[in-house]
Amino acid sequence: MGSAVDAATMEATQRLIKKKPTVVFVLGGPGSGKGTQCANIVKHFGFTHLSAGDLLRAEIKSGSENGTMIENMIKEGKIVPSEVTIKLLQNAMLESGNDKFLIDGFPRNEENRAAFEAVTKIEPAFVLFFECSEEEMERRLLSRNQGREDDNIETIRKRFKVFVESSMPVVEYYESKGKVRKIDAAKPIEEVFEAVKTVFTAQDDKVAA
Ligand code: ADP
Ligand code: C5P
Ligand code: MG
Repeated sequence: MGSAVDAATMEATQRLIKKKPTVVFVLGGPGSGKGTQCANIVKHFGFTHLSAGDLLRAEIKSGSENGTMIENMIKEGKIVPSEVTIKLLQNAMLESGNDKFLIDGFPRNEENRAAFEAVTKIEPAFVLFFECSEEEMERRLLSRNQGREDDNIETIRKRFKVFVESSMPVVEYYESKGKVRKIDAAKPIEEVFEAVKTVFTAQDDKVAA
């Protein structure tokens, strides 16, 4: 059984490698506006938006065998093992007819980053990084109103801590490779999108088309 699953994963990987997708990682603290801006980027630049958090929440709803584990991790603001998240991202990319993806909320830690690179061989075109104060992010999360189990003050504080300790090193890693495009995300939505547009239009044809 295990080897059959492995064979399926390997086959999916080969198909994805052949597809040579363009990937932009969208990073930033919880509530920095990643999902909001990705919706705008989709409309203007023809990307497909894949939110790792949304894919994990869909996996819980689908009643998958990993559902309870994922649910518990999300409630605690912890990062789900890469194996699970990468499989979801990989399948979503393969199922899509598109070859340009915004991967939002991933990689969340060094394990996510290294495993994604090792499995998919995909290097991001660049990393869009939304910078925002915790004070502002907290305000946004507490009024998000999407019925999320993790938008409560106790879990929010844990998520901020995980972001600083585990996710910022990933941003720094890409910064050292010159791949980070930093955006002031504390401004109103429209102003943030103006800055985002400047970043995308400055890219080569494959990204900006
Ligand atoms: P993330 O995906 O980074 O967690 P969201 O896009 O879900 O963040 O945004 C979190 C909340 O903040 C949502 O309710 C959204 O409408 C709101 N929001 C997003 N961007 C801004 C902004 N620039 N100014 C004020 N509120 C915002
Ligand atoms: O990005 P979002 O805020 O939707 O993520 C919600 C939660 O999903 C995170 O706090 C974390 O528990 C989980 N997650 C994860 N690995 C990712 C992205 C999200 O475990 N790469
Ligand atoms: Mg989001």
